[in-house]
Amino acid sequence: MTPFRVGLLGHGTVGGALHELIDARADAIEATTGMRPEISGVLTRSRGEFADIVERSDLVVELIGGLEPAREYILHAMRAGRHVVTANKQVLAEHGEELYEAAREAGVQLRFEAAVGGVVPVIRVIHETLAAAHIDRVHGIVNGTTNFILTEMTRTGMGYAEALAQAQELGFAEADPSDDVSGRDAAAKMAIIARLAFNARVTIDEVAYEGIERITADDIEYAKELGLSLKLLGTAERLDGGVSVRVHPAFLYGSHPLAAVNGSFNAVTIESPAITEITLSGPGAGGSQTASAVLGDVISAMIPPTTLPAPAVETPLVPDVRSAFYLSLEVADEPGVLAQVAEILGLQGVSVKSVVQKGLGEDARLAMVVHPVLESRFMAAVHLIGQLPFLRSAPRPIRVIEETFEE
Ligand SMILES: NC(=O)c1ccc[n+]([C@@H]2O[C@H](COP(=O)([O-])OP(=O)(O)OC[C@H]3O[C@@H](n4cnc5c(N)ncnc54)[C@H](OP(=O)(O)O)[C@@H]3O)[C@@H](O)[C@H]2O)c1
Repeated sequence: MTPFRVGLLGHGTVGGALHELIDARADAIEATTGMRPEISGVLTRSRGEFADIVERSDLVVELIGGLEPAREYILHAMRAGRHVVTANKQVLAEHGEELYEAAREAGVQLRFEAAVGGVVPVIRVIHETLAAAHIDRVHGIVNGTTNFILTEMTRTGMGYAEALAQAQELGFAEADPSDDVSGRDAAAKMAIIARLAFNARVTIDEVAYEGIERITADDIEYAKELGLSLKLLGTAERLDGGVSVRVHPAFLYGSHPLAAVNGSFNAVTIESPAITEITLSGPGAGGSQTASAVLGDVISAMIPPTTLPAPAVETPLVPDVRSAFYLSLEVADEPGVLAQVAEILGLQGVSVKSVVQKGLGEDARLAMVVHPVLESRFMAAVHLIGQLPFLRSAPRPIRVIEETFEE
């Protein structure tokens, strides 16, 4: 028997599940690879000694999370000649370049499938399966907590606060959900995807993100009548010789492949002229699911080739993009309101695709969808509409994704 020694940094939800999975799958892995994985040491806050674990390992798995000491440990292990597998999106989205460079210099593998989309094989497909395709755009639902909350709001009509409380009760949201609901967690994952898909140096600081905290049950209810469903959507795309990476709530038409991705599932749609589009979906988190993706990376490292991204090419980030929008307005129910709104939209070159109007006693709700327009023009129109005297509350714009990929 040839042992393959795995040092485990972190023994929480994922680390604990990985330990059990390695024990359970060791025979099968040995039969496939000719090497038998075994845990050579475990580090937590109260047990193990880092340098000693590195010394006794062929590969180190980092499942501590956060920036430090995870970054320091990953660098140290690679410089000591050890392959590293991690599920840590924060450290990759912030310090990816430094880590990829260190892996390249040391001639070791750095694998991170579980950092994006849990067990959904996003990294592998972008980096290996589609290595020959020129990827134009990736859309992703890459945060299961927010997808669960939006799904529940849509299914039951409940408000955001109630749906969040339910997600926390059922273990789909953490006690402090801010990274998830603000869009920051999804932004980190989209930065990692963009770095791989476009070979552009993108860190989380360059991703514009908005969360779901201000979404109301009304937004979802009115949009249903327009045939739309709401997701927290990450987008990474090539535009005008540069790239744009962003995360925001967006409406999708029912025929978009991501429109039917519900609950805590993650999904990614990859678009390229060579392949039209590929959609991958599955559980985005969970101890045993994530551990399964981590162990897949460990096995790949036992039998190379490398998955390091190529050195980054200088690529500008595009500041303004075109998008269709949904706009919800609560207005006094009086003559001339729609005409004034339409005039402002028209002056900014915004053209309306569809409108629904509902009476709310003395007030009315106008919900509309407009054709794609530069975001800066649309937001200028929304700002002006927000000043109109008959507005009862701030206008609520949400982006609409128009692609549907029908054959
Ligand atoms: N949970 C998921 O579903 C999921 C999904 C995808 C990716 N991930 C990623 O997987 C990683 C691990 O997540 P998790 O949910 O397993 O976290 P967790 O349950 O909080 O476990 C973290 C582990 O790291 C240890 N640790 C924390 N600080 C340490 C330090 N300074 N030195 C040594 N050990 C330290 C903890 O030690 P103690 O036991 O002493 O507290 C614990 O064993 C994170 O990067 C996360 O983003 C998780």
